Amino acid sequence: MTQKATVIGAGVMGHGIAQVFALAGISVHLYDLNMKILTNAVASINNNLELYLTNQIISSAEKEQVLKRIHTSTNLEESLVGSTFVIEAIPEVLQLKWDLYRSLEAICNQNVIIASNTSTIPLSTLIEHSIYPERFIIAHFLNPAPLVPLVEVIKHDCTSEHVIDTTMSLLKNAGKSPILLKKEIQGFVVNRIQAALLREVLSLIENDIVDVEDMDRIIKDGPGFRWAFIGPVEMIDYGGLDTWKRIFDNLFPNLNNRQTAPEFINRFVAQNQLGAKTGEGIYPYSNICIDSLLTDRDNNFLSLIKIKNNMDFIKKPSY
Ligand SMILES: NC(=O)c1ccc[n+]([C@@H]2O[C@H](COP(=O)([O-])OP(=O)(O)OC[C@H]3O[C@@H](n4cnc5c(N)ncnc54)[C@H](O)[C@@H]3O)[C@@H](O)[C@H]2O)c1
Repeated sequence: MTQKATVIGAGVMGHGIAQVFALAGISVHLYDLNMKILTNAVASINNNLELYLTNQIISSAEKEQVLKRIHTSTNLEESLVGSTFVIEAIPEVLQLKWDLYRSLEAICNQNVIIASNTSTIPLSTLIEHSIYPERFIIAHFLNPAPLVPLVEVIKHDCTSEHVIDTTMSLLKNAGKSPILLKKEIQGFVVNRIQAALLREVLSLIENDIVDVEDMDRIIKDGPGFRWAFIGPVEMIDYGGLDTWKRIFDNLFPNLNNRQTAPEFINRFVAQNQLGAKTGEGIYPYSNICIDSLLTDRDNNFLSLIKIKNNMDFIKKPSY
């Protein structure tokens, strides 16, 4: 059983992953390049736990215990002492990840598992220069990592059974809902589906069929409402495969199949209007407090977890 884990990179994803493991009773070493990032990461975890406290998911004593399990460091070697599971959440830049793996393999003994939270880079590419490729695996958490149950797990032909089993048990014991893909595919599953949906969504907006607010409402009140409880395969089974066959035959030839990002997205990016983080995206954010937007989002996700009646997603009873 994993007792100590190291999370490398304490940004958007890394701090959330550290929180997941610490809540599961695991001692977590959180490593990043400077202390300011680590201090901000712990402050974010503290805020997240405060939300759990307000929602009576943990007690204040439990909150303190969770925080005590998180040790921050800017010294890579120090952060790896005693860890049997290492996960990196550093930027999606292949050379950065390769450089990090070279350092990790020089420090860690060969039994230590190295996982990546990459959203797009195939495992076969990540392990190109590795000495022990059998120790590598992808564990793709979704943002916000503490609240979204799913973790996509991607193996390579050479990933050892022990590495797969340990990663799956670790994630299950931390209350996650890990799914092991049968084989590697570009974009994995979640991002392939999201990209397919977004290609059509953005095309419908670009062609002025609906405006932006209505589009978001269509997804939230329609498909998204259903998908919280039934999967797409269940949906077509319930609707009738004969009906869906006609829908497919009529619609597939009409769906957008563009090969690059839509023009209006390119224009936003060229003007550095990148969304919430720059104060302007498809929606304006300049007069909106992003922190309170994110707190509202997290409160809504917590409500959904409660409705789904599965608090295990956050805190296992054995904790
Ligand atoms: N943001 C998302 O929604 C999301 C979702 C799923 C997966 N991912 C993936 O997770 C990974 C991290 O994404 P993020 O959004 O958390 O990025 P981020 O930029 O928020 O955080 C990255 C952190 O890594 C640190 N870092 C950079 N180089 C480092 C090094 N050599 N050693 C240690 N730390 C280093 C940075 O200082 C930063 O704090 C990426 O691979 C990304 O594709 C992101």
